[in-house]
Amino acid sequence: MTEKRNEIGVAVLGFGTVGAGVVEILLAQGDLLAARLGVRVALRAVCDLDLDTDRGVEVPDGILSRDSAAAIARDDVDVVVETIGGCGIARTLVLDALRRGKAVVTANKKLIAEHGKELFETARANGARLHFEASVGGGIPILKALTEGLVANRILRIEGILNGTCNYILTRMESEGLAFDPVLHAAQEAGYAEAEPSLDIDGHDTAHKAAILASLACGKLVEAKDVAVRGIRGIDARDIRYAGDLGYRIKLLAHMACGPAGLEVSVAPTLVGREHLLSQVSGVFNAVLVEGDSVGTTLFYGRGAGRAATASAVVADIADAAEAIARGGAWRYERLPEAGEIARRPRGEEESRHYLRFSLRDTPGALARMAQTLGAHGIGIASVIQKEGEEGAKYVPVVMVTGKVKAAALEAALAAIAADGDWTEGETVSYPING
Ligand code: HSE
Repeated sequence: MTEKRNEIGVAVLGFGTVGAGVVEILLAQGDLLAARLGVRVALRAVCDLDLDTDRGVEVPDGILSRDSAAAIARDDVDVVVETIGGCGIARTLVLDALRRGKAVVTANKKLIAEHGKELFETARANGARLHFEASVGGGIPILKALTEGLVANRILRIEGILNGTCNYILTRMESEGLAFDPVLHAAQEAGYAEAEPSLDIDGHDTAHKAAILASLACGKLVEAKDVAVRGIRGIDARDIRYAGDLGYRIKLLAHMACGPAGLEVSVAPTLVGREHLLSQVSGVFNAVLVEGDSVGTTLFYGRGAGRAATASAVVADIADAAEAIARGGAWRYERLPEAGEIARRPRGEEESRHYLRFSLRDTPGALARMAQTLGAHGIGIASVIQKEGEEGAKYVPVVMVTGKVKAAALEAALAAIAADGDWTEGETVSYPING
């Protein structure tokens, strides 16, 4: 019989925002965790190259060091927490820990979404645990919900607002009628958006999280490169306003559909009806809607980022690992996504309605010509609004909601419209409509 352990040792690599939050919770909630888990979680090491910055946490003597590799190698460290970020040194250290059979807990969505195959294979080969709850949705326990609470379900659909920075920008643009650039700058000043914001505003951070959700939902590895991505960079305040006139809000939505035709995962600015629960999610909050074949629709909402919320999810993973190690329990590798063929629906096969904004020549017959071109591509029009143009302008904005159409047919129609002389000016704006 395996002897029950009384203490499980933890090393935290990366003493930045999330790492400091994890250390703070481990130190403050030691007794609570011990009572709940039946084992004490002991902080053995906290490693960072920068030991001078004040993180606002009192760390006991002898814990702080710069040497992550040495901390991983210690016999009294069972769980290695990676809160460094990126795919450089973080990947090397995580692989090192897994090869030593240590449990690894990470909040690093980029690492999981881009190197999942290598990490999962290394974990399996070495009998090591790999937990990554905090990589998606910050403090929302969505991965646990997918893999445990909803284990009885085939997951048919996931819709998610997974990036707080983008949701903050879109919310302020709508509520204050502001343009994209000033709101991005305000978000940077408030510390919500990074100084280099492309990972967030170009949709890649959402795509990393969508890939992880899709992998767990369908059990096969979906990588970031498999996700079709459009971000919110430069989104036009007029479209937010016109969408509002039509009864919608624009959200950066991750979408996963898994049906008989295969899996499709995408990220795009999407119109969501004002009465829809996801359109009520504002500011830096995240939400994930999951549809299972037995449970129906479920919704998970909470803080998608931030020191304490993300640390809450990291500590939940540490607790899982510590409890299982203490009891000598084997891990469920079956729940880790496997590399392998997955039926993928060709991109753009799913039908949806679309919002379109043209700059149309202000001349009789122009609207009819537009409708005719769309009709020739099998696209019906559900509603049209022609906005007042500027005094004397040659082109006026026209906003349409189409009937259900595949993205490929829409692209062909928009290309035909663009090629049709000077009936329109500039590029047509097009966003899918949810539902
Ligand atoms: N940059 C992310 C966001 C948080 O704005 O939601 C970390 O995933």
